[in-house]
Amino acid sequence: MIDLLTMHNFKAFQHTELRLGPLTLLTGLNSSGKSSVLQALALLRQSYEAGDLAVAGWLREAQQAGLATSVANQGFLLNGELVGLGTGEDVLHEDFTEDLGPDERPPIRLGVTEGPYRYTWTVESEPEQNLLPLLDVDLPLTSEGPSAPAGPEAHTPSFLTAPFQYLHADRISPAQFYPRDHQVAIGRSFLGVRGEHAVNYLRHHGEDTVAAGPLRHPKAASDSLISQTAAWMGDLCPGVDIEAVAIKGTDVVSLSYGFQGTVGATKRRRPGNVGFGLTYVLPVVVACLSAQRGSLVLLENPEAHLHPQGQTRMAMLAASAAAQGVQVIMETHSDHVLNGVRLAVKQGGLTPEQVVLHYFRGNGTGAEIVSPRVNADGRIDQWPAGFFDELENTLDQLIG
Ligand SMILES: Nc1ncnc2c1ncn2[C@@H]1O[C@H](COP(=O)(O)OP(=O)(O)O)[C@@H](O)[C@H]1O
Ligand SMILES: [Mg+2]
Repeated sequence: MIDLLTMHNFKAFQHTELRLGPLTLLTGLNSSGKSSVLQALALLRQSYEAGDLAVAGWLREAQQAGLATSVANQGFLLNGELVGLGTGEDVLHEDFTEDLGPDERPPIRLGVTEGPYRYTWTVESEPEQNLLPLLDVDLPLTSEGPSAPAGPEAHTPSFLTAPFQYLHADRISPAQFYPRDHQVAIGRSFLGVRGEHAVNYLRHHGEDTVAAGPLRHPKAASDSLISQTAAWMGDLCPGVDIEAVAIKGTDVVSLSYGFQGTVGATKRRRPGNVGFGLTYVLPVVVACLSAQRGSLVLLENPEAHLHPQGQTRMAMLAASAAAQGVQVIMETHSDHVLNGVRLAVKQGGLTPEQVVLHYFRGNGTGAEIVSPRVNADGRIDQWPAGFFDELENTLDQLIG
């Protein structure tokens, strides 16, 4: 699990150290830096997956090649499957503090701590570049493992190799058909940043068993992923059940929703005819239910298009995933999501220590972060101005 993320000269962050927990909520004003936190992690992952991020084995190779610091063709890949951040000029924090020589550029640094291990990557902020060249890596060494006699190896951080999901705020909208990309959905078990592979994943993995524990919905027909997904979806939208089928001879899968018809029999309906929220939240439900212990799930506004009760239940689902060893980091504007998490703690689903709250109150020149804590009763120790106080503020005016 990632315990700490350090961002230096990265977008809105001049220098920020952010504690992360099994379940982390990023809240706060628009444009205050919440998504940038998810982007920092996705950027590392994207660079690693493209082979651009020096990790294990690098030190030995570098030593053999007589390299001290810079590593050719390695660095932060700004534009890829997970994030498109533009160029070095876009990513470099505009208010950097380094004193620089005439030809020097300020460094951008991202660091991750997992338990006792700390990993840091420093790149050069080339203004026009899409791959920001690596200047330095700082990785913990291991003297164990099969290749140890050849020289020191570096640990590979587990968030780079463990199963991973990242769902953007902008997700799939209701459609009759969804792509059937075997390589992404089945080979890599990735649902897509817009959740576009969730339906195909469900079609292929529908009979997989959801791990025993709080993720298993007590009212589901069975432990299978499809039944569990249908049961949780039923909580978010009462009375619904879902079906994902491949269309023979095509590259698409179709999704249909069933509702208990007024005449008793279940009536099947196309996604376009059942409302936006259901389709929008499906990838979130599949991401939580299919996540394995040790995996990382990044969710941007998972509450979008859900009614308040559904938002609370969605938070309970995410809390259940966290309780089963999945690290969940989500950006949210919803007090119902916050309350769902508080309820999960009060009901004993999560310990207070497992929940990390951050409130970003960006002032346009950088991120300022306050981190309220939740106690075992689900109570919160501080309510900084702007932190989910709008209901109270409005009521004051209505009643006063
Ligand atoms: N290179 C940069 N230097 C300084 N601030 C930046 C830079 N790039 C983006 N920002 C700021 O980051 C904020 C957007 O952050 P984002 O994470 O998208 O916000 P949100 O909290 O809405 O998810 C904006 O205020 C923007 O001005
Ligand atoms: Mg955002």
